[in-house]
Amino acid sequence: MKGRLFDRIALVTGGASGFGAGIADCFVREGAKVMIADINEPAGRHKAEALQHAGHSASFVQTDVSKADSVRQAVAACVDSFGRLDTMVANAGIGQRPCPIAELDESELTRQFDTNVKGVVFCCKEAVAQFRERGGGNIVITASGIALTPRPRLLAYAAAKGAVVAFAKGLALELADEGIRVNALCPAVGDTPMIAEFMGGAVNEAGKAQFREALPMGRLITPRDVGEAAVFMASDIESGAITGSAFPVDAGRCV
Ligand SMILES: NC(=O)c1ccc[n+]([C@@H]2O[C@H](COP(=O)([O-])OP(=O)(O)OC[C@H]3O[C@@H](n4cnc5c(N)ncnc54)[C@H](O)[C@@H]3O)[C@@H](O)[C@H]2O)c1
Repeated sequence: MKGRLFDRIALVTGGASGFGAGIADCFVREGAKVMIADINEPAGRHKAEALQHAGHSASFVQTDVSKADSVRQAVAACVDSFGRLDTMVANAGIGQRPCPIAELDESELTRQFDTNVKGVVFCCKEAVAQFRERGGGNIVITASGIALTPRPRLLAYAAAKGAVVAFAKGLALELADEGIRVNALCPAVGDTPMIAEFMGGAVNEAGKAQFREALPMGRLITPRDVGEAAVFMASDIESGAITGSAFPVDAGRCV
């Protein structure tokens, strides 16, 4: 049986690790061909090779989403390798170490906005240019639950993810009559390497347990949780009428 994303060409930023790797796994399972675009070359290459060894179509391009030229080259590499681009998954991002506003400096704001906001905008801009050539496509953005219900001490990250959700909604309306859908996923805290940042730099089991307890369902969000939601948002059959959503994948956190 053909998968729900059969023959779909998808570029997944941040696909070397965490949620992005989970998205790549779910996409290839559903028949998509995936270009992993990540700043981390060894991890990205390793992920693409693992997918290839499992019999899937996958490739890797080193990409820094905070640089417009790099994103342009990544999309060109995807089109060179697979012939086109159907789905952009703008997932790459960075976390923030918690701190009060008095300790929040400009360099952290710049870092957050360069990767978490400009990175998403650059990816969407390049994707839209491709989609217009072929008459459609869709975009899935990994935002965060923090954009829907902000928490203290992660203000730069919250501001960046809030900006991403506003951007996704505006872009969805701008493209609504062109057959291009744009949706943002809003995960709660995940069981990924990024959790170390949210714990101040190092993972510890007590901290993880606290995060778990703060979620109504008592569990962290997994790469597969986000991957399955991304498949749904990328599938024109299942979510063909959905655009401009900020979709919680959050074990109840944002209710
Ligand atoms: N983990 C969480 O608790 C959580 C919660 C909500 C939302 N998110 C969001 O989910 C997305 C994925 O995070 P994750 O938890 O999988 O983290 P992760 O650290 O496991 O993976 C992030 C990936 O992005 C890549 N990356 C970072 N900067 C990049 C850049 N400039 N260009 C290209 N690639 C870059 C990294 O190399 C890494 O492979 C991020 O946007 C993050 O903000 C994470």
